[in-house]
Amino acid sequence: MSEIAAVDVIRTKRDGHPLSDAQIDWVVAAYTRGEVADEQMSALAMAILLRGMTPGEIARWTAAMIASGERLDLSAVPRPTVDKHSTGGVGDKITLPLTPLVAACGAAVPQLSGRGLGHTGGTLDKLESIPGWRARLSNDEFVSQLRDLGAVICAAGDGLAPADRKLYALRDVTGTVEAIPLIASSIMSKKIAEGTGALVLDVKVGTGAFMKDEASARELAATMVELGKAHGVRTVALLTDMNTPLGLAIGNANEVAESLEVLAGGGPADVIELTLALAREMLETAGIDADPAEALRSGAAMDSWRAMIRAQGGDPEAALPVARETEVLRAGQDGVVASLDALGLGLAAWRLGAGRARKEDPVSFGAGVQLKVRPGDAVRAGDVLLELRTDDGERIPAARAEAEQAVSVAPHAPTPKPLLIDRIA
Ligand code: URA
Repeated sequence: MSEIAAVDVIRTKRDGHPLSDAQIDWVVAAYTRGEVADEQMSALAMAILLRGMTPGEIARWTAAMIASGERLDLSAVPRPTVDKHSTGGVGDKITLPLTPLVAACGAAVPQLSGRGLGHTGGTLDKLESIPGWRARLSNDEFVSQLRDLGAVICAAGDGLAPADRKLYALRDVTGTVEAIPLIASSIMSKKIAEGTGALVLDVKVGTGAFMKDEASARELAATMVELGKAHGVRTVALLTDMNTPLGLAIGNANEVAESLEVLAGGGPADVIELTLALAREMLETAGIDADPAEALRSGAAMDSWRAMIRAQGGDPEAALPVARETEVLRAGQDGVVASLDALGLGLAAWRLGAGRARKEDPVSFGAGVQLKVRPGDAVRAGDVLLELRTDDGERIPAARAEAEQAVSVAPHAPTPKPLLIDRIA
């Protein structure tokens, strides 16, 4: 029998003391094995949220989460490996054009992604709107595709940081997701276990993000950068704005369509700006001297996308799903679009069926919000501001109410906010 008792670990943190290395190693491993009860881990997570953790505790907690499962070996991949992780936002489809783009520039991008929960979309849900595309790959398939094409986006296997899988589900229902030590260790344990050599983090700040204020986002970014470096992963973070959705598409199939526009050399300015900024950071941390804008212009990134989608059973030429019903929201007055609130529009898309309320729910691929305007655009009364798309018309009134609250038209143009706020290395 262990000399450590879960209740003592909880009391230590409840009373504001740092946990010892032995306490951390034991509690993470014992929880993964099912020897620490969910109610005990919930109490500990809440104590961590309220009391915080020292940098030393966070590093040890992350190492214990990595040690709870396997660590992938990417040594068979001849190119430098570099991944990107976004803390999640509304309309954030950047992984879709970015992964094949960076692969087209000579890196290998091992992108293990997740599904959406709540108002932020999941990369796998978006890609599953492509007929035939398969999210689950074995570890061997993952490594072979990375070796041959340099681009993989797939679901993380069950063997990777199982402690996080269990703990994240518990945090989700106990109001403890927002603890910075727990977010940082959750994200970084998976990225380090995936075996990437370098990592670029896109830490979002704003209404549509986990981190609503810049100070918390900076703290999260700095914590993750330090964790990456301590584990030998070259890590940098960009702090980016998430008060307004990225691009014009919020949903699944419509976000794939917008990503294809970017890969074809077009697309909304903000999506292009962020895709190129992240691509440049990824190439620099991977030690590759290449111009991602040229890879978009030449079509090399689009070729890389097609190969990546085909390798996972998808048909890159197939028509994407379309929602059965569309309703428009029009401007009630002349003026300028003053704000498009990311949280409200994310919730509208979620209510239309683009997201899920429980993790076992299906998503509707055609559902979502398609914006027709951006902040600063002049509009006349009656102009279409956005489309609400859904397979189930009964969802429209609630989505419409969210969208109406989220859009404002004013007499004067808003002061433009920069998308890229800072770089933390
Ligand atoms: N994403 C994760 O993977 N973990 C968190 O804790 C929060 C966001």
